Amino acid sequence: IRDSAEDASSYIADYVIDRIKAFEPSPEKPFVLGLPTGGSPVLIYRRLVERHRAGEISFRNVVTFNMDEYVGIPQEHPESYHSFMYKARGPICARGWLLNALAQHFFSHVDVPPRNINLLNGNAPDLEAECHEYENKIRKYGGIELFLGGIGPDGHLAFNEPGSSLKSRTRVKTLAYDTILANSRFFGNDLSQVPRMALTVGVQTVLEAREVVIIITGAHKALALQKCIEEGVNHMWTLSSLQLHPHPLIVVDEDATLEL
Ligand code: GLP
Repeated sequence: IRDSAEDASSYIADYVIDRIKAFEPSPEKPFVLGLPTGGSPVLIYRRLVERHRAGEISFRNVVTFNMDEYVGIPQEHPESYHSFMYKARGPICARGWLLNALAQHFFSHVDVPPRNINLLNGNAPDLEAECHEYENKIRKYGGIELFLGGIGPDGHLAFNEPGSSLKSRTRVKTLAYDTILANSRFFGNDLSQVPRMALTVGVQTVLEAREVVIIITGAHKALALQKCIEEGVNHMWTLSSLQLHPHPLIVVDEDATLEL
């Protein structure tokens, strides 16, 4: 538990950097990092970029796999997760802070080799084949070393909405109304603009990572945190599956602990 979202984010960024540094990569076995999008990881990315600029970390031996992507919006749409990871966006207001566009880049500001970047293609002609290939690629790299993630207010992990099988793998998922509502803030609060479907890694895909690190900040996620760590493992709060993982780490701010 950290005092603020900033502190939680810095803690996670520093943790990830330490893990990458402690890892001995080889051409056959780079450090494989799972990455999230959303408002919560923005400050984590900002610190990763800052420390990279300070010469404290290189991502040259890192391979990344993003968690999810919307279906049916072009890759260059400003709200696609592809755009989120690469490009600048206009300023957004997250819980009172004005975060400038600089904070939202990652791949454009660090030295991850482009061939090491993996993002699901929500416009692939065959979405099921796309998901299947994604899983194969993760396997080819020997699995994910560290999966970094956030959650939705309903406890969803990636886009594993309430009711997702805890054995699920990368697949097409219809978004829950709560998620469409929550994410509409990125689409001018216009629900009709929010995609209805997404590609997402499965719960099992995340659980197979050797380590899972989750950021949860804000009072609006306090109920999810309580359900996921104080109640039983169940498929309605998919983060609760983390109770089954040997190396989970959940980093939260004070506000997120309100229901504990
Ligand atoms: C989306 C993403 C999730 C993310 C969630 C929370 O639904 N698919 O991976 O954890 O948003 O986002 P935020 O951090 O903006 O609350």
